[in-house]
Amino acid sequence: MKTKQYHVEFEPIGRRGECPSDESLLEAAHRLGIELVSLCGGRGTCHRCKIQVLSGKASSPTASEQEHLTPEELANGYRLACQAYPLGDCTVHVPAESLTAPQRTQVEGQQVKVTPNPPVRAYNIEMSPPSLSDLRADAERMVQALNQQRGVSCRSVDTEVLRGLSPLLRSWDWKAQLSVRGAEVVAVLPPASAQLGLAIDLGTTKIAGYLVDLGSGETLAAQGIMNPQISYGEDVIARLSRVSRSPSGDTGAQKLVVEAIDRLAADLCAMIEARPENIVEAVVVGNTAMHHLLLRLPVDQLGRSPFVPAVSGPMDTKVRDVGLHLAPGAYLHTPPNIAGFVGGDHVAMLLATDMPRRNGLVLALDIGTNTEVALVRNGEIASVSCASGPAFEGAHIKDGMRAAPGAIERLRLVDNSIEYQTIGGQPPVGLCGSGILDAMAQLYLAGVLDKSGRLGDHPRVRSRAGQREFVLVSEEERDGRPAICITQGDIRELQLAKGAIRTGINVLLESTGCSEQDIEEVVIAGAFGSYIDVSSAVTVGMLPPLPLDRFHQVGNAAGTGARLVLTSMGKRSEAQAMARRIQYIELTTAPQFHDTFIKATQIG
Ligand code: FES
Repeated sequence: MKTKQYHVEFEPIGRRGECPSDESLLEAAHRLGIELVSLCGGRGTCHRCKIQVLSGKASSPTASEQEHLTPEELANGYRLACQAYPLGDCTVHVPAESLTAPQRTQVEGQQVKVTPNPPVRAYNIEMSPPSLSDLRADAERMVQALNQQRGVSCRSVDTEVLRGLSPLLRSWDWKAQLSVRGAEVVAVLPPASAQLGLAIDLGTTKIAGYLVDLGSGETLAAQGIMNPQISYGEDVIARLSRVSRSPSGDTGAQKLVVEAIDRLAADLCAMIEARPENIVEAVVVGNTAMHHLLLRLPVDQLGRSPFVPAVSGPMDTKVRDVGLHLAPGAYLHTPPNIAGFVGGDHVAMLLATDMPRRNGLVLALDIGTNTEVALVRNGEIASVSCASGPAFEGAHIKDGMRAAPGAIERLRLVDNSIEYQTIGGQPPVGLCGSGILDAMAQLYLAGVLDKSGRLGDHPRVRSRAGQREFVLVSEEERDGRPAICITQGDIRELQLAKGAIRTGINVLLESTGCSEQDIEEVVIAGAFGSYIDVSSAVTVGMLPPLPLDRFHQVGNAAGTGARLVLTSMGKRSEAQAMARRIQYIELTTAPQFHDTFIKATQIG
C-alpha cells in the first residue's frame, strides 16, 4: 500500500510536522524532538507512552491498548503512541506524565589534583603579511611562523580550519592563537583566546558536562541534563534493540544525543561568556552501548549474546564526524571499553578513585541501570557488570519516579507513622531510588517484611487490586489524591535489583578467594549511589555488612575521570594501561551464579 503523508500537531508542546502513514505517533514524536517516555522501546508493553488524539483519525486500537486502557480512555481518544498510526491529519495532546521528567542530575565529584599536560596546546604567533616579494600561501606562512617562533614541529592544518583561515588571518592583522594537537593545527583563534576542553559523562539516563580550562586544568562550568535518548528505551537493551530493529540503521538516537551535547556545550560556554568554537578537545566516557551509539558503531552484536563490542580500544575521532559543533578541527577522545557492558565510564571511575595505586582490598561500585563493580586487590582489578535494571531509577515501581521535585528521598517508619523528606521540600508525588531503598529497609527493620520479601501484617498494609501494599502516604494525607504505596510487586522488583548487585560483589569475592570482612574500603560512585543512605543499603543486603566508616560516597567519579583524561596525557596513558589489566568476569558464566543470585535476593 502506498505511504501517505499527514500533518500531525503535538500539543501543548506546539511541535508539528509531516508524518507518514507507516510511522507510529511515537516515532513521529521522537523525530520531532518530543521526549515521550518509551520504557519498552515501542513494543507496546510498558504503557507509558500514553497520548490523546484530540482530532483526526488514527489506526484502530490494538489488543495491547484494549487491554491496558479503560473503555472511557479509549472513547476519549487515549492511545499508546507506539501503537497508533495516523490515518489523516491529527492533533495530539501529550500529557505531562508521558514526557521524560527533568531530573536532578549530579555533576559533583571529587576534585583530583593533576598537573595539566593537555593533548592540545595554545601558541600565540605573529606573521608578516604577504607581499609581491613574499608569495607564500597563508597556511605555510602560519605553520612556518609557528615552528620558528614557538620551537614546535607542526606539519599540517586541519582541512576545515583551512576553509576559514584566509579571511580570519587578515581580519586579525596577522596575529593568531593556534591550537596544536600533535603535529596538527586543529583551531585558529583570535590572540589570547580561552582554550577550552569539554568532558562528558554520557550516562544511560543522564549526561553530565564539564567545561575545563586546558591550560590550568580548572573546571570553569558544570551542568547535568537528561539523556534524551531515554525516549528510545529506558535501559540499554531496549535502546539497542530499538535501534537494531530499524531497517535503515536508526540515526535518530545518535542525533538526539549529539544535539543534547551540543546544547550542553553551548550552555556551559554561555555561563563563562565563551563560545563552543573555543572548545578544542572533547572527551566522552560512557558505557559501551552509549559509546557505540554516539560513534555510530554497529550495535546489533552488542545487544545479543555473547555481547561483543565492535571496538574496545581508545579512539580519537574528529568531533564533526559525529556531528558535534565545537572548534572545526577538534578531536573527540573516548577511553577504552572493557567489555560489552563495561565501558570507558568504568575506566574513568577507577582512574578518578586512583584504584591502581590502592593497597589492600577495595570494592568500587558505580550504581545505575547497569551497575559496574570492581574488586581491587593491591592494584589488581577484576570487574563485573550487573543488570540491576531501572528499579532504583523509579521505573517498574508502582509509585516510583525519577529524582525530581516532590520525590520522597528519605523515609523512616516511627511508631506506625511515616516521616519523610522530599526533593525540594515539595508535596510528595512518588518515591525515587533512595526513598525506595529506605522504605524497604524500614519495613524489614520493623518486621513488616520477612527475609523472603513477603509483606506481613501491619495497620498500614492493605490489599488493592489483588496485591498487598504498604501505605506510605495515604489518600487523606494527600487531600484525596491516590495514596503513595510500596506494593508486594515493587518489593519483588527491588529484590531482583539489589540481588543483582550483591551477586556481582559475591562472585568477585569468590573469584579472588577473599571474604567480605577482608574489604577495607567500599567506594560508591554515581548519582544514585551518592544519595542513598548506606545503612539502608546494608540493611536490605545490597551491600555487605561492614562498619559504616568503610563506605565512601564519591559522587560522579566517572565525570572526574573524564576531566583527568581531558587535561592530562599522562592520565590518558594510565587509563589505557589500566584497561588492558582489568580482568573482566562474565557474571552469568561464573560457577554457582544461579545459587548466589537466589541467595542474594533475600533481604538482610
Ligand atoms: S507501550 Fe508504547 S513505548 Fe512502551
